[in-house]
Amino acid sequence: MEVKNVVIGVSGGIAVYKALDVISRLKKADFGVDVIMTNSASKFVTPLSFQSLSGNKVINDMFEEPKSWEIQHISLAKKADILVVVPATANIIGKVANGIADDMLSTTIMAAYGRCPIVFAPAMNTNMYKNPIVQNNIKKLKDYGYIFIEPEKGRLACGDVGEGKLADTELIYENIKSLLYNKRDLAGKKVMVTAGPTIAPIDPVRFITNHSTGKMGYAIAEEARDRGAEVTLISGETSLKPPFGVDFIKVSTNSEMMEKVLEKFSGSDIVIKSAAVADYKAKNYSELKIKKASDNLNIEFVKDNDILKKLGEIKKHQILVGFAAESNDLIENAYGKLTRKNLDYIVANDILSKDAGFASDENRVVILGSDGSKLELDKMSKRKVAENLFDLLSKKRS
Ligand code: CTP
Repeated sequence: MEVKNVVIGVSGGIAVYKALDVISRLKKADFGVDVIMTNSASKFVTPLSFQSLSGNKVINDMFEEPKSWEIQHISLAKKADILVVVPATANIIGKVANGIADDMLSTTIMAAYGRCPIVFAPAMNTNMYKNPIVQNNIKKLKDYGYIFIEPEKGRLACGDVGEGKLADTELIYENIKSLLYNKRDLAGKKVMVTAGPTIAPIDPVRFITNHSTGKMGYAIAEEARDRGAEVTLISGETSLKPPFGVDFIKVSTNSEMMEKVLEKFSGSDIVIKSAAVADYKAKNYSELKIKKASDNLNIEFVKDNDILKKLGEIKKHQILVGFAAESNDLIENAYGKLTRKNLDYIVANDILSKDAGFASDENRVVILGSDGSKLELDKMSKRKVAENLFDLLSKKRS
C-alpha cells in the first residue's frame, strides 16, 4: 500500500497526551507522521515525546531557521494527505473559523484547505463546548467541508461530567484510515442495518432463538460507516462489540426490533435487514416459570411480525435489502422472498454450507436484484461481502 502522510496538529489541552496514542497507532500501520504543536500544547507534553513517536522533528516555531530552504507551513500542507487536529481546542477552532492564521498550526491549516481532508477532534470543558460561539464556529467549519470527530460524553479532567471528552483514540485512528483509503460514496446517506438473532420468550427464564451471531450485519454497518454513511445498527443479543461511530440500538424480541426499525425507517435511505428474526412467538407467555409437572410439554407458537415484509409495503424512496438463509433451493426461495417482500435486493446464502454462513467470518452469497440481476460471489470475508453489496447499490444509484 502506498505510504500516506498524516499531519497531526496538537493544540493545548489536558487531552494532549492522547494524541500520542493516535500517532503510535499510525506509526504501527506505517503511516508517515509529522507533528505541529502549538506553544500551549508543548506545555502539557514535551515535543520530545511527539518527536520520538513520530520519528520526525516536531514543528512549532514559524520563524525558526529552516534546515533546507522551504516555507514549512506550505510544504507541510502540500505533503499532507490528511491533517488532523487532535485535540482541537475552542481556540484553534475559533481561529480557523474566523480566518486567523498567526502560528504554525493555523497557517498550515489555512494552506491545506482544499488540498486534503482537514479533521478536528475537539476536547474541552462541557460549557466551553456548548458555548454558542464555539458551536457556531463548528457549524461554519462543517459548512466549509472541515470534518469533525465529535467528542464523547464523560467525566472531564475538570471534574465536570458532560460532552467534551476527546473521542476514543481508536475511533480517531479508524476515521483517519477510512478517510484516506475508503470509498466515500455513502457520505450524507442514512443506512439502517439489523443484525443478530431475536428471541421469543416462553417464561421468565426460557426463550427460543437461533444461531445467528450478527457478524454479517456488523460487517455491513462498519463498511457503511467507513464509506461515510450515518449508520444505525439495530441488533439482537450478540457477543460482538458495538462498532465505533454507529448509532447502536440493542433489542431482544421481534416486536422490539419492529418498533425501532419503524421509528428509523422514514429517515433512512438504505435499509439492510440481515437479522435472523424469530417468525413465531409463544401464544401464551407464562409470567411464572413453567414447572416440570408432566412428561410432555406442548407450547403453542403463533406467527409474529414479518418486519421486512412490512417495510416492503410502506417503502417510498428507500433501497430495501433482505437476506435469505436457505437450506435448499437457494435461488428459487430467495427470488420468492424478493418479490413477496417487495425488495430491491436479496442476499442469499446456503446455511448448510460447511465453510461459510452462520458464525463463520466468511460467507458465500448470491445477490439477486429486482431488476433481474444476479451476482454470484466466491467465498470471502463478511466485510468483503458488505463491500460488494454497497458497490452494487452505488451502481444502482448512479
Ligand atoms: N425477516 C423479517 N421478519 C421476520 C422474518 C424474516 O424481517 N419475521 C427478514 C430477515 O431479516 C431477512 C428476510 O426477512 O432479511 C428473510 O428472512 P428468512 O428467515 O430467510 O425468511 P423468512 O421470511 O422467515 O421465510 P422462511 O423462514 O419461510 O424461509
